[in-house]
Amino acid sequence: MKFGIMGTGEVGSTIARGLQRLGHDVVLGSRSPGGEKHGLPVRSHKDAAAFGEIIVNAVHGEDALQLFQGCALTGKILIDIGNYQSAISEPLARTLGETLQQAFPEARVVKTLNYISAHLMIDPASLGGPLTVFVAGNDAEARDTVKSLLTAWGWQDIVDLGDLSAARSMENLASLWVRFNAQANHTNFSLALTRKP
Ligand SMILES: NC(=O)c1ccc[n+]([C@@H]2O[C@H](COP(=O)([O-])OP(=O)(O)OC[C@H]3O[C@@H](n4cnc5c(N)ncnc54)[C@H](OP(=O)(O)O)[C@@H]3O)[C@@H](O)[C@H]2O)c1
Repeated sequence: MKFGIMGTGEVGSTIARGLQRLGHDVVLGSRSPGGEKHGLPVRSHKDAAAFGEIIVNAVHGEDALQLFQGCALTGKILIDIGNYQSAISEPLARTLGETLQQAFPEARVVKTLNYISAHLMIDPASLGGPLTVFVAGNDAEARDTVKSLLTAWGWQDIVDLGDLSAARSMENLASLWVRFNAQANHTNFSLALTRKP
């Protein structure tokens, strides 16, 4: 499939690599279009969105809304991996996932991976222990497509939390990630949901 990834930072580059590995076609969307990064074309956000059948948000929440203005999103899945930086230290007034969905009702927003260390997103087995990834979105078919992608990256415990109101729980986990990262001083950790079947 064709993917347009917004953001060329740690998450954007990692997801691009993971998609390449699976044989997908990827264009990166950037404020500085032109040339290549990791062997992938870097284009404007609008061009990357036009290219993608599936779009990935890999920028901070504070930057996301403006970036998607005028982008071709109709009917497309928008995988939102972002967090508001402000949510690390302040109560989350509105979630990024729901804000994006409300601003762009023509897209099908699916929230996932936003509290997972970037390198584990596409290689969860490398941690060597159980770990859980949550998925939320208003469109069940879109959630299923994203779950298939996660499975292809090796995720085994994929928990479907239902509609996008679950973005609140997921985005609040980002502050836990930042706190633990500061204590541990590495990114080789994640969460596992232990429960009765
Ligand atoms: N790093 C992680 O392990 C991790 C894990 C889970 C979730 N996340 C979330 O994923 C998102 C991206 O994180 P990251 O670590 O990849 O950040 P990052 O390395 O700082 O990259 C963010 C990218 O956003 C773009 N950008 C910066 N300012 C922008 C602006 N004003 N308008 C539009 N685009 C702008 C830049 O790409 P261009 O210069 O090419 O435009 C930049 O490379 C964040 O919301 C973060 O919370 C990160």
